[in-house]
Amino acid sequence: MTAGKRIALSSDHAAIPLRQAIAAHIAAQGWVAVDIGPTTPESTHYPEHGAAAARLVASGDCHMGIILCGTGQGIMMAANKVKGIRCGVCADTFSARMIRQHNDANMLSIGARVVGEGLALDIVDAFLNAQFEGARHATRVEMIKALEE
Ligand code: RB5
Repeated sequence: MTAGKRIALSSDHAAIPLRQAIAAHIAAQGWVAVDIGPTTPESTHYPEHGAAAARLVASGDCHMGIILCGTGQGIMMAANKVKGIRCGVCADTFSARMIRQHNDANMLSIGARVVGEGLALDIVDAFLNAQFEGARHATRVEMIKALEE
């Protein structure tokens, strides 16, 4: 179910090569990688990049998003400030699958200084290919959404 589904990607300067590797990896699987940069290595500010990708997801322009910084933590915090975004940092495939199945996460954050490329690509696959299970989990996700009001 990847055809035509747009995935927003962004990072700060700490994660450019890994972000580009992820973009190529998901494009090879048929996802549309909407990589909004940055592409040059100057020091930059992760809140701006996290928010930019999050807005693409929240607006419906992109189906899901993948964001990265050194730890994955700062850019995740920024993305989660955008209404409608549920983003988790993952350094393992179990968590990446579960944030989709139980939390209906629409964004994944990865720390480029935490995980290597091989694991990061497996984490991305686990996240993108998992489905929200609904049922009792839907009640809890609605409770998260209510906190935004
Ligand atoms: C940049 O040095 C670093 O602080 C950033 O990439 C990230 O790890 C913040 O959460």
